[in-house]
Formats: sequence, structure tokens, C-alpha cells
Amino acid sequence: MRILVAGGAGFIGSNFIRYILGAHDDWHIANVDKLTYAGNLANLSDVADMPRYRFHRADICDAAEVSRIFALEKPEAVVNFAAETHVDRSIDDPALFLRTNILGTQVLLDAARKGGVARYLQISTDEVYGSLGATGKFSEESPLRPNSPYAASKTAADLLVRAYGKTYGLPAFVTRCSNNYGPYQFPEKLIPFFVTLLRGGKAVPVYGDGMNVRDWIHVDDHSRAVEGVLLRGRPGEIYNVGGGNERTNIEITKMLVAAMGKDESSMKFVPDRPGHDRRYAIDDAKIRAELGVVPRVPFEEGLRATVRWYLDNEPWWRAVQSGEYQSFFDRWYVRKDRV
Ligand code: NAD
Ligand code: TYD
Repeated sequence: MRILVAGGAGFIGSNFIRYILGAHDDWHIANVDKLTYAGNLANLSDVADMPRYRFHRADICDAAEVSRIFALEKPEAVVNFAAETHVDRSIDDPALFLRTNILGTQVLLDAARKGGVARYLQISTDEVYGSLGATGKFSEESPLRPNSPYAASKTAADLLVRAYGKTYGLPAFVTRCSNNYGPYQFPEKLIPFFVTLLRGGKAVPVYGDGMNVRDWIHVDDHSRAVEGVLLRGRPGEIYNVGGGNERTNIEITKMLVAAMGKDESSMKFVPDRPGHDRRYAIDDAKIRAELGVVPRVPFEEGLRATVRWYLDNEPWWRAVQSGEYQSFFDRWYVRKDRV
């Protein structure tokens, strides 16, 4: 299969590319990424020279450039991870989120339609469903009630995907996954942010009362779910993807503090995030039953390995913190045949 991955230099996209290139030796991947602050070619340094992998630096909102890349790569499938993804940034600058997450998706959908792509997969999020109370889970039928500009932009994109399926017959799918954790996550998100702060001897900022609940999934389980949808998904369908690991932020924080050999004086409560969703929980019965996709990584084990990864890869996150990672493109991709 020839896959065009958009946003493959970020956290989940880079883990997905590594997983797919290892799992399928006849699959080819073209990675299209703008390399925003969240895109980091160091995430893919181990696969960068593989003949079955190609990188294109491009903005998915640039229709002419996207169409040129589609003509060159002739993908059979598109997987769109490209997005602005951090809720706190979306509160500060919603416009950027609307541009990339909605218009960028529309540009990719158009290119996929015109290129006769056989499978278009939109990587969405459980945040489109809004917030739950103490009980219940999100199913694919739950109402869409996004609460942050980030979640609203992802919801709009999901609806565009649906419209392209209905209007143009594009064979498109949406996956809605819960909170991912694992290696190469940008250290502004809860787990890597807290590990890196604790490593530097700093206190970690817990929003509000710390009782917000997220359902955590290891990024490799997300990659396997996306693979399952690419191989066996039914066009037009939405698939929830969850880890089955509901934890409060305070539980996660205490686990991280303990894993880092610190005590609870390293935790501080700070003012809550505006519009902060209380609880997410995923009902993933559909993807389990229809596609046989089941998460495999036990949470305690996955979290331990993830903390170890950040400790063993301090140069990776130090380069992110210093901004040095943004020069990787110039160092590695100056050769014309690579771009
Ligand atoms: P990330 O922020 O780590 O990576 C996003 C990538 O998209 C970066 O490489 C960035 O350079 C690229 N990008 C941004 N704007 C672009 C543009 N205009 N053109 C081309 N590339 C652009 O994000 P992530 O955590 O890897 O998330 C990937 C996808 O998964 C997103 O669509 C997100 O909504 C979704 N998702 C994430 C989570 C999570 O827990 N991280 C959970 C569910 C769904
Ligand atoms: P985050 O990793 O930003 O993911 P999302 O908001 O998409 O779920 O945050 C996960 C949870 O951790 C969320 O409830 C907000 C909380 N949080 C903190 O308490 N402190 C922090 O510094 C950050 C970044 C997040």
C-alpha cells in the first residue's frame, strides 16, 4: 500500500510511521508535514533513510503544493494526523486551529477525491463529544458537543469528512481516540511536561482540583487501531479508539512523582483551564467487534516504559526545549532528492 501520511513528524504520526514501516515491508509512506513547533524530524531519524519512506515539507492548507505531492506520490490511502493539537494554545489562538484543522482537512479531502484515493482516514479525537459526568461513555452515536476551540475545529473536520463521503462518494473513515501517551510526545502535554519538569527539580502544575479524568492509551495501540481501520474498516464509518484506562490527573501526577523519586511537595495546584472537560471515557465496542482491535499495553507497564524513555532520551527533549530541533530540516533535508 502507498500511504500519504499528513502530520507524520508529530507525536502520533511519527510513532505510526515507524510502526507501519516495521510491520509491512511492502508498504510505502510519504510524509507531508509543515514542521510547525510540534513537528520534529528527530522523531523519525531511524527511518529517514529507508527507501520506502519519503518526506515532503508542506502545509496541508496549500492546495497547489498538496496537489503536486499527490500527483508525484499517487497514494492509495491517506491518513491525516496533521493538526494544531494543544487545547491551551487553542484558547490563546483559535484562528490557527480553524485554518489547519478545518481548511487543511478540506484541502486533503479534495486532493484525495481528485486523486481517486481508495481510503481516506481522518484522525480525530474523543474531545469532539465534549465532557461526561461521573458515569457513562462516549459511543460513536454520542452527540458532538466540543468545548474548546481545538475540539470544535476537530469536530468541523469530522463533519467535512462525512460530507465528502456522502456528496462525492469518497471512501472515508474517522477514528476518535482518547489521550495518547508514549515516546516523542511534545513536552507541553501532561505526561512528558511533568516528567521533564520533575527531572529539572521543578514542581508540576495541576489544573483545578486535579479530578478531571482522561482515558489513556499507549500510542502503539493507537497505531494498531489505525492499521486495523486501513485494512478492514468500512467506508463511511466512525470508530472510537480507547485504552480502557480511566485515571484522574491527580492519580497520573502521583504516579509520575513516585516514578521520579519525588514526593508530593513537587505538586502544585494552579487555576483551572477555561472550559476544562471533566471526564472522557470511550466505549470501543464497535472497533473491537467489527475489526478485532483491542488495546494491548497495560497502563502501568506503558507508563513506566514511557517515563524511562524520557529519562533515556534527555537530549531529545532538551533539543525541543532549546529550539535546536527546528534546524533538523536544514541539516537532513537539504538534498534535493529528499524533498
Ligand atoms: P502533534 O501536535 O504532536 O503533531 C501534529 C503534527 O502536524 C506536527 O508534526 C505538525 O508539524 C503537523 N502540522 C501542523 N499543522 C500542519 C499543517 N498546516 N500542514 C502540515 N502539517 C502540519 O499532534 P499529535 O498528538 O501527534 O496528534 C496527531 C493527531 O491525532 C491530531 O489530529 C490530533 O487531533 C489527534 N489526536 C491526538 C491525541 C493525543 O492524545 N495526542 C488523541 C486523539 C487524537
Ligand atoms: P493535555 O495533555 O493537555 O491533554 P488534553 O487536554 O487534550 O486532554 O492534558 C491532559 C489533562 O491534564 C487535562 O485534564 C489537563 C491536565 N493538565 C494539567 O493539569 N496541567 C498541565 O500543565 C497540563 C499540560 C495538563
